[in-house]
Amino acid sequence: MKLALYACCVGPALAFVARPPASSTSTGARATSTQLDARKPLIAGNWKENPCTVQEAEALASEVAEATKQAGDVGVVVIPPYPFLVPVQNAASGALMIGGQNCYFEEKGAYTGAVSTAMLSSVGCTYVLCGHSERRTVFRNDDNAINRKLRAVLDHNMMPILCIGESKEEYDAGLNKAVCAIQLSKDLKGVTGEEMKRIVVAYEPVWAIGTGLTATPEIAQSVHDYIRGYLAKMYSREVADEVIIQYGGSVTPDSVDALMAMPDIDGALVGGASLDGAKFGRIINYKKA
Ligand code: PGA
Repeated sequence: MKLALYACCVGPALAFVARPPASSTSTGARATSTQLDARKPLIAGNWKENPCTVQEAEALASEVAEATKQAGDVGVVVIPPYPFLVPVQNAASGALMIGGQNCYFEEKGAYTGAVSTAMLSSVGCTYVLCGHSERRTVFRNDDNAINRKLRAVLDHNMMPILCIGESKEEYDAGLNKAVCAIQLSKDLKGVTGEEMKRIVVAYEPVWAIGTGLTATPEIAQSVHDYIRGYLAKMYSREVADEVIIQYGGSVTPDSVDALMAMPDIDGALVGGASLDGAKFGRIINYKKA
């Protein structure tokens, strides 16, 4: 079989490995098992404004690092508050990647409270969340700001995790896919196809975040399939087939296996359950279908 080169995430750097070319052609096509193998699963723990002390952060990082020893071929990233990035990285002894929860798009200057992508990169971050719903709502980040942040993350050779998803009202009105399409169009403005391959998309229905309500695997798969199809229209099928699309929203040890069994769900962005070492350990050791 003819082999194609593609970029996949294997840690802080991008590495090039060989894989068979994607076989699907239409925007709505299901991923083949070959494509799933190519998209290495990525599980991320978004710690939000937790835990309270650096000692607790180090203890949690050590527990998660230990749990990765049994895990299969899955990338694991923890996303602690800024002051804990370096201690967490040290406590994890190379077993985990680290990511920033947010960033500011200006390089440096008189922006009190801001943290730049250069700063995040310099302490070893591989990923940076862009457009998390809590940033969109609590901190009023609009799509223009999210686009500029995503651009800054790419420019510093890190990988954005672009969070998109609809509110409860939008879901009830049947607008979940339309909201995702609008957010993708605005947040990815000016991003090239090659850059798109370095972006992780996290579909996080806002009504599922921190509520205990997980989207069913079928609902999540249907939206992921739509997102991939939309990316195929924005870029190409080849690009769309390489993009890792995570699901986020009350992922737990009980729901992860069925979600990860879906062909277009390539990983999970986990909030609450990532603060419990045993629960997150079970999530990163999800059982393959
Ligand atoms: P949750 O958070 O798992 O607590 O729902 C997910 C997220 O906000 O990324």
